[in-house]
Amino acid sequence: MTSSPEKEGGRAARKGDDLPPALRSMWRLCKLAYRHEPRLMLAAFVLSQLSALPDALLALWLMLLGKGVLDNRPGLVYAAAVGLGVSAAATWFLRTVSTRVQRRFRDKVTIALESHVARLQASVATIAHHERPEYLDRLAMLRNQVFVLDHMYMSLFSTLGWILRLGVTIGLLASIHPALLLLAVFAVPTVLTATWRPAIERSAQERGAPANRLARHLFTTATTAPPGKEVRVIGIGNRLVTERRKAWERWYGPVSASRIGSAVWHALAWAVFGGAYVGAVVFVSSGLGAPASDVLLVLAAGSRLSAYIGATVGEIGFLRGFWMDGSRRLAWLEDYAASFVTSADMPVPAQMRQGIRLEHVSFTYPGTSRLVLDDLTLSLPAGAVVALVGENGAGKTTLVKLLAKLYEPTSGTILVDDTPLARVHADRWRSRLAGAFQDFFRFELRARHTIGVGDVVRLDDESAVVTAVERAGANDVVAGLKAGLETQLGPTWPGGVEVSFGQWQKLALARGFMRDEPLLLVLDEPTAALDAETEHGLFERYAAAARRHGDGAAGRITILVSHRFSTVRMADLIVVLDGARLVEIGTHDELMSKGGQYSELYGIQAAAYR
Ligand SMILES: Nc1ncnc2c1ncn2[C@@H]1O[C@H](COP(=O)(O)OP(=O)(O)OP(=O)(O)O)[C@@H](O)[C@H]1O
Ligand SMILES: [Mg+2]
Repeated sequence: MTSSPEKEGGRAARKGDDLPPALRSMWRLCKLAYRHEPRLMLAAFVLSQLSALPDALLALWLMLLGKGVLDNRPGLVYAAAVGLGVSAAATWFLRTVSTRVQRRFRDKVTIALESHVARLQASVATIAHHERPEYLDRLAMLRNQVFVLDHMYMSLFSTLGWILRLGVTIGLLASIHPALLLLAVFAVPTVLTATWRPAIERSAQERGAPANRLARHLFTTATTAPPGKEVRVIGIGNRLVTERRKAWERWYGPVSASRIGSAVWHALAWAVFGGAYVGAVVFVSSGLGAPASDVLLVLAAGSRLSAYIGATVGEIGFLRGFWMDGSRRLAWLEDYAASFVTSADMPVPAQMRQGIRLEHVSFTYPGTSRLVLDDLTLSLPAGAVVALVGENGAGKTTLVKLLAKLYEPTSGTILVDDTPLARVHADRWRSRLAGAFQDFFRFELRARHTIGVGDVVRLDDESAVVTAVERAGANDVVAGLKAGLETQLGPTWPGGVEVSFGQWQKLALARGFMRDEPLLLVLDEPTAALDAETEHGLFERYAAAARRHGDGAAGRITILVSHRFSTVRMADLIVVLDGARLVEIGTHDELMSKGGQYSELYGIQAAAYR
């Protein structure tokens, strides 16, 4: 292998910025449906094409009928009449059967597509797609479209059906005089404007997507409960309304302008075709002096031609503007999800012997240019409690995210013992991870499950949940709930109760302590809402227990982020970050005697408490 794994990891994270080409994406979507529902799909396709035919042959029967009447040939009249009757009946019959089969196919394929998209989103190992604006827009559109993506197949089939009708009609016209083919040429402008229209409108919409998202965000902020308190206290209600209006207009203005502009061109193109149709009828009747039956055919087929071309271009426009777009997004998500799996081929070590090593790790958030971590090289020994210290924005949480494999480093390597983290499967690595985050999520479930989801396999394991509650010192929270662990959390649910922010945080911490044997435990300011003394007591107990139970045997590394030096000083190793760089590393005593940034900050905080 020539390229190093971490480079591949980095490249994978940035891969997939462009949407894949349309036709290839649609082909993939077709293959996807065929994999799930081969028979139904074939039946739907064949029926849709068959049901297109009788309709197109109507002009032929009309001409034969006219010929039979004019030439006084009863046989021909009967044949044409039977043809007309069979055509009409077959149109109805095939259409009914075809609609039923198609509906069945669509229902089934929708279920397959929805679970496919959900699985893909969950399988993306990093969270960049949840944080980058351009990806968010893409995903939001895909989420809204997935329920209707099944229409794409119908749209595709009916497009082909219209093309078939068109082919038959053009053939009939050409049989009278090849010059009538020109009629189809005059329809080209309508095809052009119809295909060009949705693309133009779509791009105006995409350009305006951020403004649209802003408008929706402001609307939610102004109308939902969580922000309600702050919105009222600072009194920005009116301002939110006007800002929302402005954002909406910023989105709608260009979109509506592009709609009007493209509609004018489209109307002009249809005027050109209309002129040509009149010309063709005059040409056949006066110019060629053709029999009345031929004029009848031109009248019928010509008027059909305009309808078929209209339907074909309309359907193609639909396909391009909406379904094609949806399939491209889906194909993009497939590629994006797949780009993460390719390089993950190494197992997670059963236990940590040496520890985690960072070698020249740098990181820039995707889509931004500022280095948030700059060339970090350090070792976190197995079994150690490591404290991360630094000002707000120094990069502590970011470092934790890299260790949790929520992001891949932009450059450099993270090694777990000797295994590059980039080549470990994200899910397997995270199954050996535990902890609590600064921006924890409030799982509004029964308290037992709010905690239990920290180790889903033991969700209903009473003793595991109780142990986790004890480890987190959350006994008081649970004791205060009216039905203990059975209490529903979240006031919007029946019988649900609201608990305070600090209590939520303790529950989140308990959730973080659910797993018994993690290799890496991260505690990113999980106790910021608790008072310093409680935090101190909690970590003292935790560190003592970790040492007593010989958790060092599995080599667990605990990473603790805190702004409180009374807690930090307990750690075996202290890592000081400043402005994206590593400035100091060592034990409390080493750093104090060194007299650098750590001892200075420690001195300031200690003085404040004195
Ligand atoms: N999702 C993101 N996209 C872009 N930039 C980000 C993102 N998250 C964080 N940053 C930037 O990265 C820098 C480091 O953020 P980080 O959250 O790692 O800091 P921190 O040390 O944990 O700070 P705090 O003590 O406030 O928690 C900040 O300047 C922040 O603006
Ligand atoms: Mg942080």
